[in-house]
Amino acid sequence: MKTITVLPGDGIGPEVTTSAVRVLRALFEKSGRDVQFIEKKIGGAAIDTFGTPLPQETIDQCHNSDAILLGAVGGPKWNAQSMNVRPEQGLLGIRKTMGLFANLRPVEAFDTLIDSSPIKRSFVEHVNFVIVRELTGGLYFGRPSERRGAHHEQVVDTLSYSKNEIERVVEKAFQLAMKRNKKLTSIDKANVLESSRMWRELVNQIAERYPEVTVSHQLVDSAAMQLITNPAQFDVLVTENMFGDILSDEASVITGSLGMMPSASLRSDKVGLYEPAHGSAPDIAGQGIANPLATILSAALLLRYSLDMDQEAAQIEKAVRNVLSQGYHTCDLQMEQPNNHIVNTAEITDLVIN
Ligand code: NAI
Ligand code: MG
Repeated sequence: MKTITVLPGDGIGPEVTTSAVRVLRALFEKSGRDVQFIEKKIGGAAIDTFGTPLPQETIDQCHNSDAILLGAVGGPKWNAQSMNVRPEQGLLGIRKTMGLFANLRPVEAFDTLIDSSPIKRSFVEHVNFVIVRELTGGLYFGRPSERRGAHHEQVVDTLSYSKNEIERVVEKAFQLAMKRNKKLTSIDKANVLESSRMWRELVNQIAERYPEVTVSHQLVDSAAMQLITNPAQFDVLVTENMFGDILSDEASVITGSLGMMPSASLRSDKVGLYEPAHGSAPDIAGQGIANPLATILSAALLLRYSLDMDQEAAQIEKAVRNVLSQGYHTCDLQMEQPNNHIVNTAEITDLVIN
């Protein structure tokens, strides 16, 4: 039997994970797969009960799971300066202790939402790519990271990677490219950074084992421009931590809504953590109107990468596309088409299941 740990978290987290679990249960029932769901606390909800955003029992349960489905953490309740624990520590902590080094963010321009993207239709039509961002190394984790000198007149951050850290995430990207359109763009700053020159060398070395994959390299500044002016050229992009952080937020503009962006954080085995890219949306929490599609699409990634259920994953993605193309959407999305129906969280979930 497979085990999925559900970490609803805070704000709309419990609402959107409930939707995704309903969709998964419906699929497992249909396909006869034996899967159990176990719920644990993380973030503010865990602080309220245990005094810590990442309790040991949550960590233990995640280590005994095939996949983790997470909602979102945080909210004004836990923002007080006086608090020395923060909900976000739960999120960073679970990614780190699980060793989830590859963050996948698929970017798809859903036809019915294209007109709510600030980018012109002709630029984003047919866009469908995945960014693979290195998640546990580079500038955000490099040491030393400190202020120096008697008057702190100097400051240093360190961009550090081991060969192994680069190889494992690049390998992941190649495997993904093989499953998709066999086209990989590696993004670096090899004209300036030594770490990028090594990154590029390793990509070229690994490429020899994947002769079917067409590999190209782009400098990050130029890639930032290309993401807006010609995003349709991309299929799989791979890059280091900070470049990926910046480019994936930029790319989210293409989809037209934060409520539509899923993500997967993976490592070398099949275990992964799946979560929507948005936060806990405290402004609409508890009203039953949150858009659950990013979490439902994250559940599709869970099926694909952790449970080898490619067909079922594609089924969910198709169902989401169908529901949108029939004009159904939650109130966060703007659609300019005649047969518009605004529905709530439970209703859009029912539509996807049906
Ligand atoms: P947010 O993503 O929670 O909300 C931004 C805006 O988008 C809000 O107006 C919200 O109502 C709307 N929105 C977001 N997701 C939506 C959905 N599924 N359906 C409908 N509307 C949606 O970002 P914000 O406001 O900056 O942060 C709120 C809290 O969430 C903070 O405590 C922040 O730290 C936390 N956060 C947590 C993240 C995580 O758990 N991965 C990521 C980003 C923020
Ligand atoms: Mg970011």
